[in-house]
Amino acid sequence: MNVENKTIIISGASRGIGRATALLLAQHGANVVVTARNADELAELEKQATEGHVRGKIVAVPGDVTNEDDMEAVVKTAIDQFQHIDVVINNAGYGVFKNVDELTATEWDDLMATNVKGTFLLTKAALPHLKAQASGHIVIVASDVAKRTFAGGALYTASKYAQEAFTGALRKEVRSFGIKVTGVYSGLVDSHFHAKGHGHETSQNWLKNEDMAESMLFIVSRPAHVVVDEFMIHPLSQEY
Ligand SMILES: NC(=O)c1ccc[n+]([C@@H]2O[C@H](COP(=O)([O-])OP(=O)(O)OC[C@H]3O[C@@H](n4cnc5c(N)ncnc54)[C@H](OP(=O)(O)O)[C@@H]3O)[C@@H](O)[C@H]2O)c1
Repeated sequence: MNVENKTIIISGASRGIGRATALLLAQHGANVVVTARNADELAELEKQATEGHVRGKIVAVPGDVTNEDDMEAVVKTAIDQFQHIDVVINNAGYGVFKNVDELTATEWDDLMATNVKGTFLLTKAALPHLKAQASGHIVIVASDVAKRTFAGGALYTASKYAQEAFTGALRKEVRSFGIKVTGVYSGLVDSHFHAKGHGHETSQNWLKNEDMAESMLFIVSRPAHVVVDEFMIHPLSQEY
């Protein structure tokens, strides 16, 4: 599980899966550049890492994944501070669950901008550096609903199917440059994603943020010649 001195960018790291992943990777010696919109939560994460004397550094760059300048600033910080980028984890995202005739056009645009365009913008900002290095790893946190649909999930599943298509095409585009691409497909995680909130009794048997963090650690710490193309994970309590 060696990520010592690796430079890892994570979007959506102010809470949930991204935050737990940032902490675990830093505990294992990675230097982690974290982004999300909530600057206070990111500063708290940075402080937790410093005060906990974790082996790696956590560097916060507040930003919105839908903003191209913000994503370029995140990548620039990683390069300025650590001179290279090993891994980019596209994790920022959210869900809106309504029947199609109840969805607004604004809800559609905003969610697609975060889940799909955000993945594109952070990946695009990092790619020139990864190509110049002839190495690197792009992880895209999609969902098991990148591969299955359900009533009330038209918008969210469309965004995750779009991430899935992006992941597949990107993989074909960059493999010959020595760049790994991993799609992560998880079932229910007890993050802050769901309406009932983190820690609700109904989510007791779901995956924990820490289960996802351990999965990410496994994915990004494989030897140079190994790529996990797809990673599917569920709580045992969930039908699949
Ligand atoms: N929880 C599940 O059951 C589940 C299952 C499968 C896949 N996923 C996926 O896992 C990923 C992480 O979600 P989570 O479960 O950890 O949810 P979460 O606890 O709600 O965390 C979502 C993160 O995304 C960030 N984010 C949202 N919009 C953003 C934007 N425009 N710009 C920058 N950051 C933004 C949030 O930070 P700010 O609000 O501070 O910006 C937050 O850090 C998502 O892509 C989600 O679709 C979740």
